[in-house]
Formats: sequence, C-alpha cells, structure tokens
Amino acid sequence: VRKTVLGILLSLAVALVIIHFAQRQLSTVWPALGVHPQVTSAMRRSMEDLKRLSELDPARTAEYRRRHEELRALHNRLEILRSGQEEIARLYERILFAVVAVTLAALGAFYVLRRRREERRLQNVRSFIERLSSGEQHLRVGERGGDAIARMAQMIESTSDVIATERQRLRYLENLAGWQEAARRHSHEIRTPLTAVRLELDRLCSEVENNSPQAAGLLVARRQSIQEELDRLSEFTRNFTAFAAIGRPRLGKIQLGAFLREFVETYAKAWPLRLHVDEESSACAIEGDRGMLRQVLVNLCANSALAGASTVTLGVRHEGRTARIDLRDDGPGIPAAIRARLFQPYTTSRSVGEGMGLGLAISRKILLDHSGDLELASTSTRGTTFTLTLPCIGHEVPS
Ligand SMILES: Nc1ncnc2c1ncn2[C@@H]1O[C@H](COP(=O)(O)OP(=O)(O)O)[C@@H](O)[C@H]1O
Ligand SMILES: [Mg+2]
Repeated sequence: VRKTVLGILLSLAVALVIIHFAQRQLSTVWPALGVHPQVTSAMRRSMEDLKRLSELDPARTAEYRRRHEELRALHNRLEILRSGQEEIARLYERILFAVVAVTLAALGAFYVLRRRREERRLQNVRSFIERLSSGEQHLRVGERGGDAIARMAQMIESTSDVIATERQRLRYLENLAGWQEAARRHSHEIRTPLTAVRLELDRLCSEVENNSPQAAGLLVARRQSIQEELDRLSEFTRNFTAFAAIGRPRLGKIQLGAFLREFVETYAKAWPLRLHVDEESSACAIEGDRGMLRQVLVNLCANSALAGASTVTLGVRHEGRTARIDLRDDGPGIPAAIRARLFQPYTTSRSVGEGMGLGLAISRKILLDHSGDLELASTSTRGTTFTLTLPCIGHEVPS
C-alpha cells in the first residue's frame, strides 16, 4: 500500500511541476513579450503621434491614417491576447485543481476499497480459524500472495493438514494396538497347550517304543505328520507374537545410501530377484533402528518376490527435512480388492497357511515409531512402488 501511495504522490508531484512549467511557458513568456504593458502603451502613444502628425501634415494624411489603422489592428490583437492570457491562466488553474482533486479522490477511494477488502479477507481467515479449532481437516482458505493475511491463511492450511495426518496416524495406531492385544492373547492361548501336546507326544512315543516295539514303526510315520502340523501351529503363533511385540526402535545414526547398498549385498541371494540401488540416490542420514528397518525392507522384498517380480530397485530421495526411500518392483501390482485396506492387519491375497497379512502392518508400525510412514506410492500392472519416509538429520558423509 505504501508503495502505491508513494507512487501516486510522486506522479502527482511530477504532474504539478510539468503543469506549472507549461503554464509559465504559455501564459508568461510569449504572450508577455507582446502583451507587456509598456509595449501597448508605446503603441497607444505612437497612434496619438500619428494623429497629431496627420493634423500637422495634411498632405500625407492618407498615409498616416493607414499606419494608424495598422497599429490599431495590432493593438487590438494584443489586447485580445492579453485577455486570452488571463483566460488561459484560469483554465490551467482549473485543470490543476481538477487533477489534484481527482488524484485525492482516487487515493481516498483506493484506501477505502483496500481497507474493505482487507476486512473481508480477515473475516474469512477468522472463520477458517474457527473451523480449524472445531476440528475440520484439510482446510483450503484460498488466499494466495505474500502479505501477512495470506501467510496466516497458509499457516491455517498447513496446520489443518498436519492435524489430519496426525489424526490418521493415531487412528491407525489405536486400531493396530487392538489387533496386537488380540494377537498377544491368541498366541499365548495357543502356545501353552501346544507345548503340552509336544511333551505328551514325546512321552507317548517313548512309552510305545518301550512297551510295544511292533507299534513303534507305525508311530514314526504318524509322529512325523503330527509334528509337521504342530510346527505349522508354532510358526503361526510366532507370527502372532512378532506382531504383538513390535519393540521400540533403538535409534542410531544410519547413512541411508550405505545402508541400502549393504542390504542389497547381504540379501542378493535371498529371493529370485535382481536387487539394486538407484545410481541417482541422494545422500541422507537418519536416526533409526537398523534391524527394524532391515526387517521392513525384507518384508517388502519378500512381497515383491512372492508377487512374481524380477527386479527391485531401491532409491533415496531427499525433500527438505524428509528422506524418502522408494522401493520399486516390476511385478503385476497389488490386487485392487485389497488396496483400500492394505495396511490393516490380516489383509492378504494369499490362501490360508501361506500368509497372514501382517507384513505391511508391522512395517508401517515400525516406520510410524520412527516418526516416519510407509505408503503405497503407486501400483499398476507394470509394478508397485512403496515409499518409506523418515526424518532426515543431515547429509551423508561420503565414505
Ligand atoms: N509388491 C507387491 N506386489 C503385489 N502385491 C503385493 C505387493 N506387496 C504386497 N502385496 C499384496 O499385499 C498383501 C499383504 O501383504 P503383507 O501385509 O505383507 O501380508 P502377506 O504377505 O502375509 O500376505 C499381499 O498378500 C499381496 O497381495
Ligand atoms: Mg508379506
């Protein structure tokens, strides 16, 4: 506003100076040369002289009269010019006055309109603050620009986004905690009788071997299949327990580039997959639990391998204070039917006994416990990309 007002005042001043000079040029300099009172009175005197001369010298009266007429015509013209000069001055005065008045009026109107607009914008921002405090999320105030009101509006927008993300995280964690508690109880309920059954089986087998050696041969084959079923049950409870007891991360500094290269080397033969780190990865360091983050990468790669992918590419991006690890495969994509609840526990497309649908839930919980997140970035028939976000604590020191 200050700039605009200054601009207007400056142009007003320049206009005034120009008008002033123009008026001086037009109304003073050239008419004054001709209309100067001394000139006109000299003319009047010569006219009287001519009159007198014609009386004294009647023979040349005609000539004196002609010269007198010429002078009179000139004198009249100058008189007209002088009255014109006054008129011109008055005209300039009026123009000047009009220019000043119009400029002041424009300034006033501009100021009033601006105040009104600001008042309206403030009112709008205030209503959004009320909506924010009543818990509305993802608010869009629609203010662009760089002034204080626009910046306030942008703050409201980003705060409402942060609140929305936090709420969503909280809901997810609460929901997960419920499932974890159920898993803990179930695994406990299964583990106790399972141990008892194993012990009973061992006892039964040794008793049969001692008392009836003929039946022992038959028992060996049966025992094998019973043991396999019990092992499956143990595996099942192990999964439950792992899900129920996701520990707190023990943080240490991790250079992401080196961490990914190490992972790729260690797990090169773990799946029929070509694992590699994107050459264009940026350098970034984070605080994290190596073991847990490795577990997340294992879960994701195992899913890619099971889906039939042949290549998994890992890359690090670095956006402000956030590090993003992209894990991209060239598999057939995630079945549409389970996409909406992909990170919910027990979401799986595998048949019974093949997968419990806990891998992604555990992985996301680990990332959330690192103040980060795990998201499905994209999935199509040409492949799937998961993105891990983590707070970045600095640039990687090249080794
Ligand atoms: N990279 C992937 N490509 C295709 N499908 C995937 C991929 N990752 C996960 N999925 C799907 O998501 C489901 C859930 O995965 P997860 O939580 O690890 O549980 P589980 O592997 O036990 O099924 C899988 O059953 C699979 O259908
Ligand atoms: Mg899995």
